[in-house]
Amino acid sequence: MTERILVTGGAGYIGSHTILTLLNAGYEVVVLDNLCNSSQESLLRVEQICGKSAWFIQGDIRDRELLDDLFSTQQIDSVLHFAGLKAVGESVKQPLDYYDNNVSGSLTLCQAMACAEVFRLVFSSSATVYGEPTHMPISEDFPTGVPTNPYGRSKLMVEELLKDLAHSDPRWSIALLRYFNPIGAHPSGLMGEDPNGLPNNLLPYVSQVAIGKLPQLAVFGADYPTPDGTGIRDYIHVVDLAEGHLKALQAISHKNGVNTWNLGTGTGYSVLEMIRAFEKASEKPVPFKIVDRRLGDIAECWADPSKAELELGWKTERGLQEMMSDTWRWQLLNPQGYATKRY
Ligand code: NAD
Ligand code: UFG
Repeated sequence: MTERILVTGGAGYIGSHTILTLLNAGYEVVVLDNLCNSSQESLLRVEQICGKSAWFIQGDIRDRELLDDLFSTQQIDSVLHFAGLKAVGESVKQPLDYYDNNVSGSLTLCQAMACAEVFRLVFSSSATVYGEPTHMPISEDFPTGVPTNPYGRSKLMVEELLKDLAHSDPRWSIALLRYFNPIGAHPSGLMGEDPNGLPNNLLPYVSQVAIGKLPQLAVFGADYPTPDGTGIRDYIHVVDLAEGHLKALQAISHKNGVNTWNLGTGTGYSVLEMIRAFEKASEKPVPFKIVDRRLGDIAECWADPSKAELELGWKTERGLQEMMSDTWRWQLLNPQGYATKRY
């Protein structure tokens, strides 16, 4: 029988790409999203690409009544839980919103799942839970560190909550997926990242500078102990990340308890390397200036992804230039993001 997956936050950047992967793999998908940081247009684009559609429910993961109704009317087998707020700077200014959405929201979701006896959950965690490790690459057995902001702390809290839950009841099968830095877009140019207002993350910012929407990039610090002085991260193509979710979902259908996997490439690139690679893909200059370090940033962060390869049979397939050219195609075809009229 076809499995039906509830995808919370499915209209967002990573969720929508994962839904495409799920539909292509033959799953049925129900999406729950309150659209606070996304547009339903992303799901129409999914349909345009694969000819299949997800069932959409506009609503909030904190709404217990809605969740109970959803679980009693839909036969859900597993939940992929992307819903949450993710802007680090905003989380410092509005911590209660972050704990409410990310922690209380996850708690309410788990309560409703337990009540409906749905025990399979894939959670969107983040490399931020490692804090500032002393060496690289980061493997899953590194201790979790001290996240430097409420967003990071909310992810760590949910991880702890889920571990306690699985410990209390062996019926739970939970995957904690620690993403490194997701970038890129679907190769069709129909789906991609559509940040609200000024982008917080490097790639969307670079891409808006290259197209002339923003005058220049501020490079946050060139005095880190890295080869060129700028911060190093492990950038992962969003389509590779989506495929990692499919593999994790399949793995937890025959693995109980909590399993943690890093989803990264194993290679780090500096900010200056990213600028050069984007200039090459777009054939546009990306003017930048070096400014002070951004508070809370670490010098370097990249994954040891070997556990996911060994246990999930998953590794990334898309390299840096592909991440850049896919981002650029999305930017060119959708200068207003999902508000751009479809062609
Ligand atoms: P996104 O903002 O594009 O997607 C999140 C979606 O959740 C949005 O569609 C939003 O409308 C929805 N949402 C938020 N609060 C909700 C609520 N209370 N009820 C229902 N829907 C709600 O973000 P994304 O980049 O796709 O990230 C997805 C998940 O991955 C998030 O949990 C994020 O914290 C995590 N993550 C993202 C990154 C990254 O760099 N993008 C890195 C590590 C982890
Ligand atoms: N950077 C700049 N200028 C910018 C934006 C970023 O120089 O305008 C630099 C940062 O200092 C950092 C690198 O580019 O060295 C990447 O920064 P991002 O903001 O794109 O990503 P972060 O590594 O800071 O954080 C991201 C997500 C977090 C997540 C973390 C680990 O935003 O949610 O990856 O997964 F927790």
